[in-house]
Amino acid sequence: MKKLLFITGGSKGIGRATVETFLANGYHVVNFSRSALDLEGVTQIRVDMSNLTWVEDCSDQVTKLAESAESICVIHNAAVLYKDSVRDLDALRLQQVLQLNVIAALQLNQLLLPSMKGGSSIIYVGSTLSEKAVAGSCSYVTSKHAVVGLMRSTAQDLAGSGIHTTCVCPGFTDTEMLREHLGHDQTILDAIAGGVTQGRLIQPQEIADTLWFASQNAVINGAVLHANLGQIEH
Ligand SMILES: NC(=O)c1ccc[n+]([C@@H]2O[C@H](COP(=O)([O-])OP(=O)(O)OC[C@H]3O[C@@H](n4cnc5c(N)ncnc54)[C@H](OP(=O)(O)O)[C@@H]3O)[C@@H](O)[C@H]2O)c1
Repeated sequence: MKKLLFITGGSKGIGRATVETFLANGYHVVNFSRSALDLEGVTQIRVDMSNLTWVEDCSDQVTKLAESAESICVIHNAAVLYKDSVRDLDALRLQQVLQLNVIAALQLNQLLLPSMKGGSSIIYVGSTLSEKAVAGSCSYVTSKHAVVGLMRSTAQDLAGSGIHTTCVCPGFTDTEMLREHLGHDQTILDAIAGGVTQGRLIQPQEIADTLWFASQNAVINGAVLHANLGQIEH
């Protein structure tokens, strides 16, 4: 019997730092992403979760792994961030973003819940944009608000199960997602860091540590936990 982490998007950025943190704490890790994460102690499931049918290819393998676990932590981390606006966001594009950022989490929960015992946890990765909006990120903002709703429903629907849940909401974190979104423009990155009270970007490891803490402390249940270094409000 062992402790298992099931994580989506563990191949890079915040996800990869989180995988390394759980491995260092004695967990076996099951990672879902399109590219492989080649680390000892990791079972890789290569899937494209933006496709509704991703579950069909791996459900037997996932169920079998989960059945052997003494306790399970699920971290819903994979997401995409596009530039779009309420004026031009294509409905099909919104559907695809919701599939990866929200619906895939529901699908994974439903695969794992029958095997999850008391002491297990379901941790969602939201964003500062889970509770506020900025212009030009309509599909992302919409999906990250939905993640909070899914987390709150998780807390209510699983009452009495001994499973706890949280939505950790990172601020600007130095990963491929952020750098690509900003066109790898160092001037913009510096300006963004200047908008944070601590004057710097967050390192992926800091979010990994927060996810670890949330997973190990059932007192934080049904809560939104912001981890953004403090953003300067205008
Ligand atoms: N970086 C930030 O500033 C920031 C701020 C707030 C919130 N967040 C949130 O933190 C989480 C991690 O972000 P990050 O910055 O670490 O992003 P990242 O570096 O872009 O990593 C995203 C991960 O998601 C996986 N992924 C993307 N599309 C996928 C798909 N179709 N199917 C399966 N996996 C897929 C990627 O793996 P493959 O490419 O191998 O599939 C990768 O492992 C996200 O939920 C993001 O919204 C980030």
